[in-house]
Amino acid sequence: MTAATPPMTAATPPMGWCTWNAFRTRIDEELIIEAADILVASGMRDRGYRYLVIDDGWQAPRRIHGRLAPDPRRFPSGIPALVREVRERGLSLGIYACPGRQTCAMIYDDYTAEGIGSYGYERADLQQFAEWGISYLKYDWCEANRCGTGLSYRAAFTRMRQAIDDIGWDGLFSISEYGRSNPWEWAPGIAHMWRVTPDIEPRWESVHGIATHAHLIAAHAGPGRWNDLDMLQVGNPGLSAAENRSHLALWAMLAAPLMAGNDLSAMDPAVRELLTCEGVIAIDQDPLGRAGRRIVREDRYEVWARPLSGDRTAIAVTATGDTPVGVHWDGGELRITDPHETVFPLPVPDLTDVWTGAAADSTEVSPHDTFLVTATTTGFTLE
Ligand code: GLA
Repeated sequence: MTAATPPMTAATPPMGWCTWNAFRTRIDEELIIEAADILVASGMRDRGYRYLVIDDGWQAPRRIHGRLAPDPRRFPSGIPALVREVRERGLSLGIYACPGRQTCAMIYDDYTAEGIGSYGYERADLQQFAEWGISYLKYDWCEANRCGTGLSYRAAFTRMRQAIDDIGWDGLFSISEYGRSNPWEWAPGIAHMWRVTPDIEPRWESVHGIATHAHLIAAHAGPGRWNDLDMLQVGNPGLSAAENRSHLALWAMLAAPLMAGNDLSAMDPAVRELLTCEGVIAIDQDPLGRAGRRIVREDRYEVWARPLSGDRTAIAVTATGDTPVGVHWDGGELRITDPHETVFPLPVPDLTDVWTGAAADSTEVSPHDTFLVTATTTGFTLE
């Protein structure tokens, strides 16, 4: 008899919530427990947002007997207690660390600390995280080559991979060097996800720019290895309702991890509804694990297609300009027109509107909004 194979880590893009965008280093254990409660009460956990990641700013200002510790004022109960709280709510705790001598908050956010990078402590830190019950490690470059380490991107992350293998930790390893050294080429097998760009901002240009870049590297994503387009800005000030929809749609079309980055305690019903939209999450989490790509790029719109399991394809029409775009459905062909009458026809036999779950109809897509449908595409692919 052969032993059962353990389930693959990150077989579909990881989902969760992360403290960074809404709170930066202003975090404490109450905030984490409150976030866990809201992940459950909002229905997000049940839709798959399962990792709760404590980003930079959790650390005490220095190591204690060589070990990382949480800031005692803000995390007085300690991390294992937090792991228990989070697990009781059906969630898994993630934590942040860096391969060099400094964390990014020390460099960019005036976080006062010393010696809390993992350089030379990879094994000890990973052992500590494993003992605490951490399920997800966000390992962030933060100029790790500085301060005499001489680390290269790949070497820095390989050192922690080695520690993970030595210790036999079975958590999720998320890395970030902002796409500087084409990690999609070397990181599969080292990490489960890798950032592909500098930090996202809650602005349409940032969101759309990241998707445009990720389009070129979509083929590198697959089960257990994902292009990380960065945290979702859905619900953060700076994006309109239309832009929130397009943001989530594009991340789903690109099979990106869905790590929410909003202030959950201030989440309005529309944002909650969007983040828990069953259809768009089903696209993101499709078991085939093939990322979509942009198949048309016109001045005022783009069309994206992602092959799904069960001979279905997801199609997104995003109005990228300042004018609405028409989508006409006649029961066999989808025609996209912009005010200048560029017509792009797609031969699809049926359409389900992902936002509503109902049969799709002709419509007008407002600027920066996305018409998102799935269609049966047995025997052909959309090119
Ligand atoms: C970098 C990362 C962010 C966040 C901060 C924390 O900027 O890209 O996602 O983790 O560091 O300092």
